Amino acid sequence: MVRDDVLQVLEQRRGELVSGGMLARELSVSRTAVWKAISALRDEGFPIESVAGGGYRLSTDSDALSSAGIALELTTQSIGQSLDVFSEIDSTNNYLKQHASKLQHGHTVVADCQTAGRGRRGRSFHSPSGSGVYLSILLHPNLPLEQINLITVGASVAISHAIEQTASFTPSIKWVNDVLRNGKKLCGILTEASVEAETGALGYAIVGIGINVRTPEGGLPEDIRDIAGSLEDFSPHPVRRNALVAAFLNQMERCYQLIADGNTAQLMEEYRSYMHFLGQEIRVITNGVSEPARALSINDRGHLIVEKNGKNETVFAGEISIRLDEQSDMPK
Ligand code: BTN
Repeated sequence: MVRDDVLQVLEQRRGELVSGGMLARELSVSRTAVWKAISALRDEGFPIESVAGGGYRLSTDSDALSSAGIALELTTQSIGQSLDVFSEIDSTNNYLKQHASKLQHGHTVVADCQTAGRGRRGRSFHSPSGSGVYLSILLHPNLPLEQINLITVGASVAISHAIEQTASFTPSIKWVNDVLRNGKKLCGILTEASVEAETGALGYAIVGIGINVRTPEGGLPEDIRDIAGSLEDFSPHPVRRNALVAAFLNQMERCYQLIADGNTAQLMEEYRSYMHFLGQEIRVITNGVSEPARALSINDRGHLIVEKNGKNETVFAGEISIRLDEQSDMPK
């Protein structure tokens, strides 16, 4: 498509003037086709300036999501190599579920906005335009069903590294998979799987992640104002969403490979390194019942080991709450 090819050249030379004639020659299309592609891109919201007699330029501070912009920094073999970017979708997890049978391992869907974003435990996930990234990856893991939690662990480690690389600060992971800074949730992860009816084996897995990059225009809805934060609240510089997506996909492929190779010890070492709550007093919430405990460690299956009523116990799933003194989720 001429639109995609024009965008790719403008992304590669972001900030530089590129003449219409040069674009037409390089892409072997007419100047009218180039002009139509530029108009379509502008209608989609890409900030492309034109300078009389000079050509076209994609503004250096454009933060529009695009497959061309993501591909520039993608170094993976499979994850994200086939990629759809939507300006609006109901839910990226729903899209992959609907099309899973026709799509290959690693297929990724990214959206600027979701109209029916879903969170864990049947909750909705606030997904406004221009301020976040909503992304899902289709995976065909060769794993027993009970180890599906490793995919979620991999995603939380991958996004933590990606945040360090593109937002220049270190977040914390609150078991199981909340990624925080100063007690504010920066992103949410929802992993869903299909099970083969006959064998009970894991079919495909979809890992979906929503990342708050900046506060949306008009602010956050009241119900999440006190609990959610965004990367730009803590980053010393603006965060580019295409670069964040590419960094996450690169890291996700590396983490997925650790799982596929059975090297979960390495993955867990990285997971633990972001868990700044270990050693603290917490509350373990299982089936709505909240009990005090001390967080001790994470075992190599990703389960939480706590001390409760003087005895060590393994917590397999559920939620924990941590009483945060001002900065206690910060790296020590
Ligand atoms: C949570 O914290 O409850 C999990 C939120 C997961 C949200 C992401 S956004 C991309 C993907 N599509 C969805 O509908 N949900 C996940």
